[in-house]
Amino acid sequence: MEFPVPTAMQPILTLTVNPALDVSTVTDQVIGEHKLRCHTSRLDPGGGGVNVARVVHRLGGQTIAAYTAGGPTGEAYRRLIEAERIPTLLVPISGSTRQNFTVDETTTGKQFRFVLEGPELSEEEWRRCLAIVAESVPAGGYVVASGSLPKGVPDDFYAQVARLANERGARCVVDASGPSLAAALAEGVFLVKPSRRELAALVGGTLDTDESQVAAASSLVADGSAQHVALTLGGEGAVLASKSGTLRLPVPHVRVRSTVGAGDSFLAAFVLRLAQGRGLEDAFRAAVAAGTATVTTTATELCRRDDVERLEAELAVRPFEP
Ligand SMILES: Nc1ncnc2c1ncn2[C@@H]1O[C@H](COP(=O)(O)OP(=O)(O)OP(=O)(O)O)[C@@H](O)[C@H]1O
Ligand SMILES: [Mg+2]
Repeated sequence: MEFPVPTAMQPILTLTVNPALDVSTVTDQVIGEHKLRCHTSRLDPGGGGVNVARVVHRLGGQTIAAYTAGGPTGEAYRRLIEAERIPTLLVPISGSTRQNFTVDETTTGKQFRFVLEGPELSEEEWRRCLAIVAESVPAGGYVVASGSLPKGVPDDFYAQVARLANERGARCVVDASGPSLAAALAEGVFLVKPSRRELAALVGGTLDTDESQVAAASSLVADGSAQHVALTLGGEGAVLASKSGTLRLPVPHVRVRSTVGAGDSFLAAFVLRLAQGRGLEDAFRAAVAAGTATVTTTATELCRRDDVERLEAELAVRPFEP
């Protein structure tokens, strides 16, 4: 059954303190010592929160992306994100925005992802990021803090973002790992989206059985760390734990080309559908649809709206698994 999507939506602010200029290309084979002839390169403005904003935008939603940028790479980054017509709040930094380099190998279908070190942020710079959140946090809306923290930024940075959002009546969504995730959960967030690896590192164990996955996700809801926990399991689907119980969805069968940005796309669709007034079940289906749509596109390319809506409709006729 089709539900009308309300036109008014709650605002979504995304925050990216460690963005990366994604450079991707294709070569026949990666071999040491050889000069590797590559195809042309593609540039994308990447990093957790910005990717979330780009997917919200291409799915027809409104969002503002707050991000840091500096140096010549930061300038290229700014132009790319502005070309996508996404409203932004820029925090200038003295270091140079990092680059990530992705190479797809045609002979094997393997992907090589080189994640480069980023600039260190000064205390003034990261405090400016918090000030932007404090000034722009949409009361009744969503703040999505996503991605790794650059050097110089304290582990409790996302916890401070969560506190600002909570104090101002916004819903804080966090996609992070390690100590910064643990600190944000200690503060209490609306939604968290760990992958299996990230949740396992947090609660211990390997989370390779259905029962252990449900128990781990539910434990974060029970202890007040998060109202909702969306545990993503790559090609094995996802689990959503909330106070009302847990849901599990398998991913539709697709040809996987590149998993870059899958988690960000998942999160974007989840938050967008909630911001549009849809229920948790619809948001969860849209999230799995968007994550899956993104793995069907090459290199750093994100999902296409048509694919997301088609997969969303496909999932709507399947029952949830317990
Ligand atoms: N092999 C796959 N086949 C189909 N869909 C996939 C596959 N891998 C990922 N996805 C989609 O992307 C979503 C997120 O994937 P995943 O669990 O790998 O999270 P991630 O945040 O990208 O991982 P990480 O942060 O650990 O790199 C999945 O829930 C699913 O919808
Ligand atoms: Mg992730």
